[in-house]
Amino acid sequence: MNPISQTTHSALQKWVDEMQALCTPDAVAWCDGSQAEWERLTTLLVESGTFIPLNPAKRPNSFLARSSPSDVARVEERTFICTKRPDQAGPTNRWADPAEMRATLTEKFTGCMKGRTMYVIPFCMGPLDSPLAKIGIEISDSPYVVVNMRIMCHMGSHILKRLEDEVGGTFEKKRDGHGQFIPCLHSVGMPLARGEKDAVWPCNDEKYIAHFPETREIMSFGSGYGGNALLGKKCLALRIASNIAREHQWMAEHMLIVGIHAPDGTKTYLTAAFPSACGKTNLAMLVPPKSYLDAGWKTSIVGDDIAWLWPHADGKLHAINPETGFFGVAPGTAYETNPIAMESMKMNTIFTNVALTEDGDVWWEGMTPEKPAHLIDWTGQEWTPDCGRPAAHANARFTAPASQCPTIDPDWQNPDGVPIDGIIFGGRRPTTMPLIYQAFNWSHGVYIGATMGSEMTAAAVGTIGKVRRDPMAMLPFCGYNMGAYFGNWLEIRRHLTHLPRFFHVNWFRKDEAGKFLWPGFGENMRVLEWIVKRCHGAAAGYETQIGWTPAFEDFNIDGLLDFTQERYEQAMAFHTAEWKAELVSQSEFFIDLYDHLPKELVFQRELLIARLA
Ligand code: GTP
Ligand code: SPV
Ligand code: MN
Repeated sequence: MNPISQTTHSALQKWVDEMQALCTPDAVAWCDGSQAEWERLTTLLVESGTFIPLNPAKRPNSFLARSSPSDVARVEERTFICTKRPDQAGPTNRWADPAEMRATLTEKFTGCMKGRTMYVIPFCMGPLDSPLAKIGIEISDSPYVVVNMRIMCHMGSHILKRLEDEVGGTFEKKRDGHGQFIPCLHSVGMPLARGEKDAVWPCNDEKYIAHFPETREIMSFGSGYGGNALLGKKCLALRIASNIAREHQWMAEHMLIVGIHAPDGTKTYLTAAFPSACGKTNLAMLVPPKSYLDAGWKTSIVGDDIAWLWPHADGKLHAINPETGFFGVAPGTAYETNPIAMESMKMNTIFTNVALTEDGDVWWEGMTPEKPAHLIDWTGQEWTPDCGRPAAHANARFTAPASQCPTIDPDWQNPDGVPIDGIIFGGRRPTTMPLIYQAFNWSHGVYIGATMGSEMTAAAVGTIGKVRRDPMAMLPFCGYNMGAYFGNWLEIRRHLTHLPRFFHVNWFRKDEAGKFLWPGFGENMRVLEWIVKRCHGAAAGYETQIGWTPAFEDFNIDGLLDFTQERYEQAMAFHTAEWKAELVSQSEFFIDLYDHLPKELVFQRELLIARLA
């Protein structure tokens, strides 16, 4: 079938040959990541009906894809961590026996690529020369995956060449895992009979997103969407990487990385962990209010979704973004709320599940104040403002190159990363949680992250709006026992001489009328200013039972009309009764984790109870 060896990396050639024999595609294509390949594949996707080319005058080199309504988000219920013992995956993950899962999936993958091309995608998460960089090979029968991967990570023949040079002994060791790759097998799970017409969005009702941390492998079957299919993202850069990180004393986190440039010329890098669709992209691309811009404040972005952090030789925590693109939530994104995202997706962008305008451009809820009079909605149906259906799916996304972002940080590809001074946790909490507070110290900060909660969003299939515990925003992404993961967080402190400060924010608190108490978006700069100053010991804090908070006098509201001291006090309010209920809910979560839970966190809870009494 394919007798010519495509790579000098014999382990890779062997694996690809085996997968070809298993999946029996009609053809095998090794991806080179070139512009010509992009053009070939996007043309193919247009011909097959998966892509609709957008108006080149409005949105050059950009495409719209509409997925099957059964394949619109990550499927947490079908996501598995396959380890020898169930407690290695822990109570927050779906565990499966690796041998059994392998047997099940071998059956599923048998002949699953019939009638299709099997693409071999060499990719690297992180700048190639970063000590943390990880090379993966994704095998996929989805050309949609190939073109998305080209935006989302370093991809193509230069990655393959690097891998070959590493085993060939001609390349000095720079990254952990030198010469090795992480095998990522993906299929939409819909073989084609000879002459059968393909679906516009092929997928399978039965889905498996399986991780094998012990052998560092990923197998994904049945979905073509987002984190289910772009395996470098959540599967590799979070679930598998969190396992590697634990073994090598670093951290793989669901975090944005943002640089804050102060008028005095100092630059402070912060990371923030918010659950899916809770504002990471927005905060990473924040445009400060006018009064701040006039004073000389600005921000830059290193990453909007994933951060890999390690104790650097300089004693500080450093961070890289393993990705090269944004897979961002479209609904709610507008020039008013996030102009930087809007600029980043002006061209060379793939849109999935948004609406199509009459002039061949895209639209989604919240993009413009006025709804267009007529659209084709994300399901391909005629849409008018009064039809009662949303035009875009709530988890509609854009895939845009980070290099197109006007505020991309000059060091975003620095293999050495950027030094982190502050770590922010937060979620969607309509009650209880104040706008901002600071942890007393590292272990209190880890406690705050570990007990984080948030309302569920449309980023995953499930109950939207219900508050669930989502420690460090990693509930769906931690690839091992959550209690042991907290242990790793506590452990990292021992490797640092300069400790970042910890904060908790809540942009989503509501008043009695159900209105957000805090204007959010660009105005979040006011909270960031206090955070940055606290990191450098340059702002006053007020000690409360839950942590340090800014007094109204220390909080800058210049130019923020309608935001009174009364509103501020409401947004910052601390109610003992709410916190007692919060503690009960935190305790219930800790009970689930008892056997691997570090004692330090139990003590932190005792201290909080004592302070609240
Ligand atoms: P993932 O890509 O799923 O990991 O999500 P993300 O954390 O990057 O989410 P994103 O920044 O795309 O957030 C999207 C949603 O959060 C949109 O509905 C926004 O309107 C809303 N949002 C973001 N920032 C704010 C804010 O400061 N205040 C309020 N009220 N809503 C916000
Ligand atoms: C998330 O859900 O946190 C995302 C989107 O960033 S996905 O890649 O689908 O996981
Ligand atoms: Mn995410």
